[in-house]
Amino acid sequence: MGAVIGHVSLALEKMDPKEMEASLEIALMASERACGIVSRLQDFAKNKGENFIKVNVNDAINNVIRLIQKDFINNNIKIKTILQPDMTIMGDQPQIEQVILNLLINSKQAMPKGGTIEIDTKSDNASVIVLVKDTGKGIDEELKVRIFEPFFTTKGVVGMGKEYGSQDAEGTGLGLSVSHGIIENHNGTIKLLESSPQGTTFEIRIPVAK
Ligand SMILES: Nc1ncnc2c1ncn2[C@@H]1O[C@H](COP(=O)(O)OP(=O)(O)OP(=O)(O)O)[C@@H](O)[C@H]1O
Ligand SMILES: [Mg+2]
Repeated sequence: MGAVIGHVSLALEKMDPKEMEASLEIALMASERACGIVSRLQDFAKNKGENFIKVNVNDAINNVIRLIQKDFINNNIKIKTILQPDMTIMGDQPQIEQVILNLLINSKQAMPKGGTIEIDTKSDNASVIVLVKDTGKGIDEELKVRIFEPFFTTKGVVGMGKEYGSQDAEGTGLGLSVSHGIIENHNGTIKLLESSPQGTTFEIRIPVAK
């Protein structure tokens, strides 16, 4: 939505009708994108577990790692896993993979010079617990309460180009809010466990399959 607002205000400042049209076209694309995202969010909300099956969380994690490994290695990011056996939940595997992917992309974007990501799984009998730890730049204290808000981002707004301080990353600010919705649908919790300039850890808990 930041991109829509930005480009509509730019268009209003333009005298040249061609430039105005160009800004409005970008705003239109951004709003179409936002509509698509919202309708996908609504689809998630509808799927309240009817299609849930046994999902091995370790398999979901390994699938995502396989997908991104080359790109992460090219960016000097090492991924380490410590996975305990029998991490089974009732769920939708593609959605769980989406959440893991969102966390890993955030970690990557927090480590523009490279670093390490550690993913652990364990269980306390009631829940499967997943920790995703990175050695990235961390989250400013005053922003910690806002990171799960839809459209909250500190990255360059998609379509607005690269802002100062955004490194090479752009964001819509939906990764964590979508992840939160997915984990809630799984009767679980996702939270920021800790974050400092040395790194950030997120924790996911989902009830174990009976
Ligand atoms: N591992 C992390 N390290 C540092 N900051 C983080 C981390 N994860 C999230 N953040 C902060 O939380 C904000 C919100 O994250 P979220 O994934 O919802 O949106 P985004 O990454 O900015 O955009 P999108 O995920 O839609 O591409 C980020 O902009 C960033 O400031
Ligand atoms: Mg993100």
